[in-house]
Amino acid sequence: MNQRIYFDNAATTPLDATVLEAMMPYLTEKFGNPSSIYSYGRESRLAIENARKSVAKILNAHPAEIFFTSGGTESSNTAICAAVRDLGCKHIITSPVEHHATLHTVENLYHRGEAALSYVKMLPDGHIDMEDLEQLLASCEEKSVVTLMHANNEIGNMMDIHAVGELCKKYNAIFHSDTVQTVGHFPFDLRNTPVHFITGAGHKFHGPKGVGILYINENVKIKPFIQGGGQERNMRAGTENLYGVVGFAKALEMATENYEKDSAHIRELKSYMMEELKKHIKGVSFNGDPLGRSLYTVVSASFPKTEKSEMILFNLDINNICASGGSACTSGADAGSHVIRAINNNPNQVTVRFSFSKQNTKEEIDMVVSKLKEMI
Ligand SMILES: Cc1ncc(COP(=O)(O)O)c(C=O)c1O
Repeated sequence: MNQRIYFDNAATTPLDATVLEAMMPYLTEKFGNPSSIYSYGRESRLAIENARKSVAKILNAHPAEIFFTSGGTESSNTAICAAVRDLGCKHIITSPVEHHATLHTVENLYHRGEAALSYVKMLPDGHIDMEDLEQLLASCEEKSVVTLMHANNEIGNMMDIHAVGELCKKYNAIFHSDTVQTVGHFPFDLRNTPVHFITGAGHKFHGPKGVGILYINENVKIKPFIQGGGQERNMRAGTENLYGVVGFAKALEMATENYEKDSAHIRELKSYMMEELKKHIKGVSFNGDPLGRSLYTVVSASFPKTEKSEMILFNLDINNICASGGSACTSGADAGSHVIRAINNNPNQVTVRFSFSKQNTKEEIDMVVSKLKEMI
């Protein structure tokens, strides 16, 4: 059996050994409940508060603005529902290419009659139409919440978070951005970014699964999404995911420390993959804006549809190559990707997302491209 090649890092990344090492004491001897008042508990509480301080410092936020959650989905659910239920937003503006964590939340609020719902127009290169966004904001008499992702997990397009934030400010709208694909991959300066809520998930940057953050700007006050105990300063009940929180902070620290080196390496892999695909596979095209405002981790490639290429994901899997048709939720099933449908509705193509991490190499790309040549 060939060695496995993992090109699906936008779905999840392997846990870094150093991160596991930082987590281990809290999986073993340091098991106290952070809410307990004796020393075991205090030790756990300290670990969580130190993690919060470290995350806040890296994102240039205040520790009181960082809440630990179970990941990107819970963070987006919390923010969007709070904007409608606690902050008086009667109109949601989003895009058709958001992650289902956002799309299903806004659809739910809309179907329950809690808010009106508008989708901003998309440009052919997969970016949002800023003029249309301004028109939507201007035409709405009631307070709006804008929920738009910083980077798209399927095609990699990046939104200008500052430009959208300024527009929201102009129209007094609440702004939530799903930053799950960018926290741990890009520097953030939240003190100087006009955004009310952002989200993060540890498993996207070599941290553990099931832990994330919700940043809530200090100027907005919302009610808890999960009811129960007084954890996370009464904002998110439930005994804390202690080792997860420690792992999240450690992974973010490492990603930040090694950002220049790792991002340069991954950026090179992305452009090499694109060049090699263009060189060896006739009719290949790329979705979104891969050479413009784009994540350096993602390449979304479309191939001409043939009997052979329709089986591409299956054949990649047989060859021990991990890649996705769309987001992890839709990969495998041939339901098609809502993102690809929204920007490039070509039924004569099959699309594969390749996404890289610091652990990938050019040799792996050579192997994958040579296998793709056989498959298409
Ligand atoms: C853009 C985006 N948003 C939200 C999520 C959901 O994050 P999680 O699986 O940690 O809840 C993901 C991950 O799949 C994602 O890529």
